Amino acid sequence: MQTHTTLAALRAQVRQWRREGASVGFVPTMGNLHAGHHALVDLARRHADRVVASIFVNPTQFGPNEDYARYPRTPESDINGLAERGCDALFLPPVEQMYPYGTMACVQMHVPGITDILDGLHRPGHFNGVAQVVARLFNMVQPDLAVFGRKDYQQLQVIRYMTKEMSFPVEIIPAPTLREADGLAMSSRNQYLQGDERQTATRIHQTLLFMRDAARQGLPIAGIEDQATARLEAAGFTVDYAEVRRSDLSRAKAPDEPGLLALIAARLGRTRLIDNLEFDGS
Ligand code: PAF
Repeated sequence: MQTHTTLAALRAQVRQWRREGASVGFVPTMGNLHAGHHALVDLARRHADRVVASIFVNPTQFGPNEDYARYPRTPESDINGLAERGCDALFLPPVEQMYPYGTMACVQMHVPGITDILDGLHRPGHFNGVAQVVARLFNMVQPDLAVFGRKDYQQLQVIRYMTKEMSFPVEIIPAPTLREADGLAMSSRNQYLQGDERQTATRIHQTLLFMRDAARQGLPIAGIEDQATARLEAAGFTVDYAEVRRSDLSRAKAPDEPGLLALIAARLGRTRLIDNLEFDGS
């Protein structure tokens, strides 16, 4: 696996593959890679001849009181894991490569509507930063397709919207959420969980299952959301939201609508966890 820190080197590599007639798949990450990320690489590999991953902890998607500084950075093990997985190239740009005029003077992105709800409400500016960095990465890598996890469901929708609206010639491939044996969705932030918090964190998936089952039993949406919030609070969480939404993230009206999903964001100690469950999925 080639590791590139400059855009020129990355582009030369991708151009070479294009000359050989190879298609290019892309997996953007912020590093601290786990089995969930490796599964994204596997999925990209199934759809493309060559796979590029990127590792960039993007400062513009973190709020002032969020965990940018302490976000886990593990480049060595990440590089080894990607190479073992058969990733063809890693793009590891410094901040100056991504934001040549600095993060205060960079071109802004804003995806309207969908970024004003759920995580967008609780993390103002977060999705602007995500859209901004993903647009840059698409321009830099110029992939045929890119893989994004369904765990970050709202992020996936923001990127789909942006890609379509900006006519990026990139196919967006969603990847299923990978879970630990006890149901906890894999996430780099799980390692912040202290002591009993790791066990308590499984309540998020249990609550999502409760929300799905309650919808199947016909409980009204507001009742499902209230009960889910109460369950999480009783377990010690501070709940940002526990909601049932349609697949486009508009508000659900009735529990028997097709294509519903439940989404939760909740804090346990210093750790903010998000997860979701699509009712029609497995
Ligand atoms: O999901 C992530 O890891 C990040 O939000 C992404 C898509 C790599 C953009 O920084």
